[in-house]
Amino acid sequence: MAFTPRVFSGIKPSGDLHLGNYLGAIRRFVPLQDTHQTIYCVVDMHAITVWQEPEDLRRWTYEIAAAYIAAGLDPKRSIIFNQSQVVEHAELSWIFNCVARMGWMSRMTQFKDKAGENSEQVSLGLFAYPSLMAADILLYKATGVPVGEDQKQHLELTRDIAKKFNHDFRKQIKAFGHDEEFFPLTETLATGPAMRVKSLRDGTKKMSKSDASDMSTIYMMDDADMISKKIKKATTDPEALPTEAAGLAGRAEAENLVQIYAALADLSVADVLKEYGGSGWGRFKPALADLAVAVLAPVATEMRRLVGDPGEMDAILRDGAERARAIAQPVMDDVRKIVGFVR
Ligand code: TRP
Repeated sequence: MAFTPRVFSGIKPSGDLHLGNYLGAIRRFVPLQDTHQTIYCVVDMHAITVWQEPEDLRRWTYEIAAAYIAAGLDPKRSIIFNQSQVVEHAELSWIFNCVARMGWMSRMTQFKDKAGENSEQVSLGLFAYPSLMAADILLYKATGVPVGEDQKQHLELTRDIAKKFNHDFRKQIKAFGHDEEFFPLTETLATGPAMRVKSLRDGTKKMSKSDASDMSTIYMMDDADMISKKIKKATTDPEALPTEAAGLAGRAEAENLVQIYAALADLSVADVLKEYGGSGWGRFKPALADLAVAVLAPVATEMRRLVGDPGEMDAILRDGAERARAIAQPVMDDVRKIVGFVR
């Protein structure tokens, strides 16, 4: 039996969404609706692996769901929901905690980066984070996950957990009439060129919600004036734009702005430079600001409308959770039997 082509991805409600989330993730989720069954989650249980003010968690949960829809995900075609409404995520992650090995988990570079010097003080949840992520994905037997470079190791771990589960329980899996592969070996889905949006103030740093300067980050809820102002004030160098991509080497800020233009316009960097090579910032920045406003401002407006209507948002998330459970529950029924839990 082949697995249904199914995509799962999630974003943590732990800060205001910004251009990096939009170009690197959310926008890329949309076309997958045409080729896969698509499930997009707001991973609130992942968010609380570090402290979240409950009111912020709630607000950001709505904000992400609104961004999904405003960016073009159709809540009828895609399943849009928040993780904690489908308790099976927690249940499967516990079982995976008992499949994954301490050695595997200890090698996760994201944990090591986040825990830093502080590894005695971080939550146990932060350590178990990748096991919950594996549960998110395998609860739906998802075959593909669109994520960036930074999540590749977590996807590898997800495959290791799937393999070990398939192997350790192979007798029961067969006895219950399944193929030997109960869980698929989920692939990372490439959805276009790697897109790492950098800070508008320092082209060597990631654009991030935790930057000290508000001018470094374009938030998805920024209005037209704010978007335009931030782009016009972005740090640049004194040179004109090069005519070829190679000329951007060593010019981190210039490269970032050209890449943002290319991504927003759905063009290659080479095409953008064909148009703007030789121009100074006085021509390029206003053009980029206009483009960014044209693409982002309508999304922001729709997000604001949606978050202003919690009744509608609750209904969408409840409906999504119900449809998610319709897939997750039969999988969990099988998992419980396979493991040997009496019901
Ligand atoms: N760890 C992901 C991130 O930080 C978020 C996430 C949680 C996720 N569960 C997932 C992504 C399942 C893809 C699939 O970006």
